[in-house]
Amino acid sequence: MKKLYLQTFGCQMNERDSEGVQGLLLDRGFETTSTIEEADLILYNTCSVRDHAEQKVFGRMGHFRKLKQINPNLIVGIVGCMAQEHGGNFFKKNPEIDLVCGPGNLNQIPDLVEEIRLQRAPRLAIDRLNEEYSLENVHHRSGELKGLVTIMTGCDHRCTYCIVPYTRGDERSRNSENIIKEMRDLEAKGFKDVMLLGQNVNSYGKGLEESIDFAGLLEKIQKETPGIPRLRFITSHPKDAHTRLFTAMRDLPMVCEHMHLPVQSGSNRTLRRMKREHTREWYLEQIEEYRKLVPDGTLTTDFIVGFPGETEKDFLDTLEFIERIEFDSAFIFQYSPRPGTPALKLEDDVTPQEKSRRHQILLAAQKAASLKRNQALIGRTEEVLFESRSKRDEMRFVGRTRGYKRVVVSAERDIIGEFHQAKILSVADETLLGEIAGQ
Ligand code: SAH
Ligand code: SF4
Ligand code: F3S
Repeated sequence: MKKLYLQTFGCQMNERDSEGVQGLLLDRGFETTSTIEEADLILYNTCSVRDHAEQKVFGRMGHFRKLKQINPNLIVGIVGCMAQEHGGNFFKKNPEIDLVCGPGNLNQIPDLVEEIRLQRAPRLAIDRLNEEYSLENVHHRSGELKGLVTIMTGCDHRCTYCIVPYTRGDERSRNSENIIKEMRDLEAKGFKDVMLLGQNVNSYGKGLEESIDFAGLLEKIQKETPGIPRLRFITSHPKDAHTRLFTAMRDLPMVCEHMHLPVQSGSNRTLRRMKREHTREWYLEQIEEYRKLVPDGTLTTDFIVGFPGETEKDFLDTLEFIERIEFDSAFIFQYSPRPGTPALKLEDDVTPQEKSRRHQILLAAQKAASLKRNQALIGRTEEVLFESRSKRDEMRFVGRTRGYKRVVVSAERDIIGEFHQAKILSVADETLLGEIAGQ
């Protein structure tokens, strides 16, 4: 048996891509290993979104070189977003790499690996950036509880800081029948929580021959596969998040009451320069509507701090936004200049010290907001799906509420895969501590 070592960086879309690639390779006689030293094939599924993510991969090259000295038949592949971005440059700088394969070419990996093995020559496959979803009809799953389903790929926005449109291509929605086929498979296998994936899920349907939008897709999934108890989605774009989506979230039993709605900044001036296509006021209006229609719904977001030209006033607008909205949680990233993006032409003029100072202040404000939102749940009973054991204590189990809050409880027996009502007793950082109700 040939052994595959596959490591994934980046977003959930990469997680799903890796799962699909793994399925294709298992079909060709590979088995997986978690020990890199015993691998015959090493694949790194990579992310380009910030420099830090890329450096982690570049930092592994020396190790690959050593492993190839020990095992000359070893094949090393860089796949995903960094492959699309750097293309053939990898071979020039890093001769230890045998395969460079972009997100649109993933289904070719088994054949490419075979060619490399026979011909001992590197292969570059990045020419299918804007073709149809490369893992259509690949139903392999590594888990059995939580499933990921890519409903669209690429992005038609051009936020000035963002590399994703260049690594994933233009926006393409998958046809809804294929998505339903995948959902039926997950339903039959007993999956309990399915997350729909796309860069902008709520513009789903654009460009398809059938007439369907994202709320329509949610309705169709509810109707066709009602046996899946929980359905989630990421990521929504504020421009296309409106009443029809919120009412679908309110009315469809399987759709969980959680929205991840990245805002990036609380300053209109910065939003304009980021080309986000929404204002601070629009965002506030939309979430007011969301909270009215889905009163228990949770709201999470992303921010970028230290965008070129961000003034103290812009920064304070963001701080005020965090304090005012009280997101349940937020990812806050320091701006990282990306090759080929329009923002690269702007001077990266916020010093690293200042970026870091602003970052710390926003993190502290968000921590206080998360704590307040979580403390408001103390005394309440929430439905929790238990997903794993606590690493520190065998008899403690970790799960998620519908709103995606992490809950830990003690139980006398294994409750993984089960739903229970849990009473929330206290809060520790972003985790809720509870007990199973009625015990
Ligand atoms: N499609 C999603 C997010 C894609 S990237 C959306 O539009 O919301 C995930 C997050 O990474 C973004 O929301 C943004 O906050 C962050 N990000 C993207 N490019 C970045 C950059 N150049 N520097 C720092 N953070 C960045
Ligand atoms: Fe990037 Fe903007 Fe597209 Fe999101 S919407 S993937 S941030 S370009
Ligand atoms: Fe990273 Fe590509 Fe996802 S750049 S965030 S892996 S789409």
